[in-house]
Amino acid sequence: MDAVSVIILAAGKGTRMNSELPKVLHPVAGKPMVLHVIACARQVTSDHHIHVVVGHQARQVQQAVTACYPVNFSLQKSLLGTGDAVKCAIPALAQDVKQVVILYGDVPLIQPETVADLVSVHRSSRAKVTILAADMDNPSGYGRIICDSMNRVIAIREEADASAEEKKIRRINTGIYCFDRQFLAMALDQLKPDNLQAEYYLTDVVGIASQKNENVAVKVLKDISQVLGVNTLDDLEKTRNLHGHMQNELP
Ligand code: UD1
Ligand code: CA
Repeated sequence: MDAVSVIILAAGKGTRMNSELPKVLHPVAGKPMVLHVIACARQVTSDHHIHVVVGHQARQVQQAVTACYPVNFSLQKSLLGTGDAVKCAIPALAQDVKQVVILYGDVPLIQPETVADLVSVHRSSRAKVTILAADMDNPSGYGRIICDSMNRVIAIREEADASAEEKKIRRINTGIYCFDRQFLAMALDQLKPDNLQAEYYLTDVVGIASQKNENVAVKVLKDISQVLGVNTLDDLEKTRNLHGHMQNELP
């Protein structure tokens, strides 16, 4: 199987953690969150294909990671959004890599089988983008997956930009995707920060794919605990508990 690259976004501020410690360094089971994500990525590809995007408190995050794993780093100088963060890592990708997976430093419970599944759905559907989605009883705060009458994905709409009708959609974007590398690089250059948050949204790459009549695939994840993001100390506590349960379930 051809190698994939994995880009891990870890540049964000984590303001709601109310803590001096960079968010992605808060420990789960005694290990900084971002190291759980790297450990997952290492089950799917080799260290030189793993790229961590750092920004806020970059040196501290980079030091903590380097002490454990020989992966690559890209610096996002200003936090202009998830699309901009991914763009920062593109020049560092190995030339021969055809697929790119996006993971997050603050989504530490993601499992390697899920990522491997996502990549294999992506390859077999010959899509330019494969979105890891989930069906949530309470989807508020997440990007919603917008489909046309033929059930083809046409866009991802952020909560801030969604209409009342769109907010009723329960199928959400986990933020994890597999992209065709060439398509991703081309689409990132077309992003515009013309939304309520004035950010470069990675999610707009999905709309670009649809406009160009490219295939967008969706893989629905049943086990939503794997994609719980840590934004607050409450989330951290929940994640620590879930991690404990996940370990108990292993044979
Ligand atoms: C993002 C998705 C949303 C999805 C949700 C899942 C976008 C525009 N939206 O929203 O559709 O449902 O994740 O949790 O992508 N980051 C950087 N640099 C930046 C901005 C963010 O590295 O300039 C990192 C953050 O550290 C974080 C991740 O990217 O780890 C997600 O960023 P965040 O701003 O929290 O995105 P959401 O609004 O949660
Ligand atoms: Ca978030």
